[in-house]
Amino acid sequence: MDSSIEKVVSLCKRRGFIFQSSEIYGGFSAIYDYGPLGIELKNQISQLWWREMTHAHENIVGLDSGILMHPKIWEASGHVNAFNDPLIDCKHCKARFRSDEFEKDSKSTIWKDIQCPRCGTVGSLTEPRQFNLMFKTNIGPVAEKGTEAYLRPETAQGIYVNYLLVQGAMRLKVPFGIAQIGKAFRNEIIARNFIFRTREFEQLEMQYFVKPGSDDKIFQEWKEKRMAFYVDFLNIDKSSLRFYKHGEDDLAHYAKEACDIEYKFPFGWSEIEGVHNRTNFDLSQHEKFSGKKMSYFDQQKNERYLPYIIETSAGLNRMLLTVLTNAYWDDKENNRIVLKLSPKIAPIKAAICPLTKKDGLPEKARKIMDILKSKFKVIFDQQGSIGKRYYRQDEAGTPFGITIDHQTLEDNTVTIRFRDTQRQERMLTENLVDILNEST
Ligand code: GAP
Repeated sequence: MDSSIEKVVSLCKRRGFIFQSSEIYGGFSAIYDYGPLGIELKNQISQLWWREMTHAHENIVGLDSGILMHPKIWEASGHVNAFNDPLIDCKHCKARFRSDEFEKDSKSTIWKDIQCPRCGTVGSLTEPRQFNLMFKTNIGPVAEKGTEAYLRPETAQGIYVNYLLVQGAMRLKVPFGIAQIGKAFRNEIIARNFIFRTREFEQLEMQYFVKPGSDDKIFQEWKEKRMAFYVDFLNIDKSSLRFYKHGEDDLAHYAKEACDIEYKFPFGWSEIEGVHNRTNFDLSQHEKFSGKKMSYFDQQKNERYLPYIIETSAGLNRMLLTVLTNAYWDDKENNRIVLKLSPKIAPIKAAICPLTKKDGLPEKARKIMDILKSKFKVIFDQQGSIGKRYYRQDEAGTPFGITIDHQTLEDNTVTIRFRDTQRQERMLTENLVDILNEST
């Protein structure tokens, strides 16, 4: 693992953002648990996405479909036959690799000539075998033929099979969108780079139903809008983001055009979101497999057609890793680690710190806490020296420290400390709500 990712991993554990799953049993590969600050941050990011993708657009609505769905859905979508990764084994050290990752580093495609990257043996690699990424389970008490089901590998299909119900109920006209946030599962051959590639993850997907012919233009528009989200809403450095356009040979089985938004992680440029033109592939497949009409009827023009779908598909966990990596700041000059999170998404907005544990300061601090906690996620911290408390909050990404001292008892003013500059300012307690409101 890259050393700067290790620093992020270590901070995440230390401050309660992210833990390895089942740690007391030695860990469970490629699954992570989100601690108190991790879940706050994850919720902030997903709410920001939800507001931006649904509330800000009159023609985009939400949905929450099941993780388990009729197994025929996955036959129709092509996932049963085509959702495969090519797997290579080393017969010598038993290491496993995905051959598509290999080819980037290796000029030869004759696997017997290539050295195993783990043990260095030449001639020990097997030919690639196709490996389906879907997790299977059984419905009902007996595992027998006909009871098999899959954990969804993408949330998108739940939207496609419901789209006419949603459209009818909400009286939507093309173009319109349906957004969904939910878990997806993939039995990844190699899971690495912390929460970047895991077997259980969350997707933030929006499917935009458009008239065929308008798809190319709308695809370009969504590409730009999604890139702007990272810069304007999540404060990610523009220079660390780029588009990657898929070539003919690496397009997914459903896509006419696809473009990834990539972030420059410490382990290299990698995808955080995909924007896809899925044409009418999915709807026509569901029409074929279910025997039900999936076409949209335009009443004004009196015409019926299968809409094309422009999809924006992001991983919440990858967004979180992007935000954490981008915010990590080793402030050597002041000997501190800071998470420079935007106050909009910081898990804790302010720490309320009585300077001492006596003279009525904790009681006064509690009163201020009561006013603020109805509006913001704030915490009460009276453990250790004030310097130590500030540094702890810097690591947690808390943008404001509010200190209550003896002067507070006299004139109702507090000191507010700004995380990034460490500047301190005296202000009236009544102004705190406005200051916190302005920043969030
Ligand atoms: N519905 C389209 C779809 O699922 P994808 O490119 O396979 O497309 C979309 O996945 C996004 O989901 C990716 O950009 C990534 O952010 C996230 N994602 C996919 N596999 C993941 C995994 N194993 N772990 C974490 N996130 C993953």
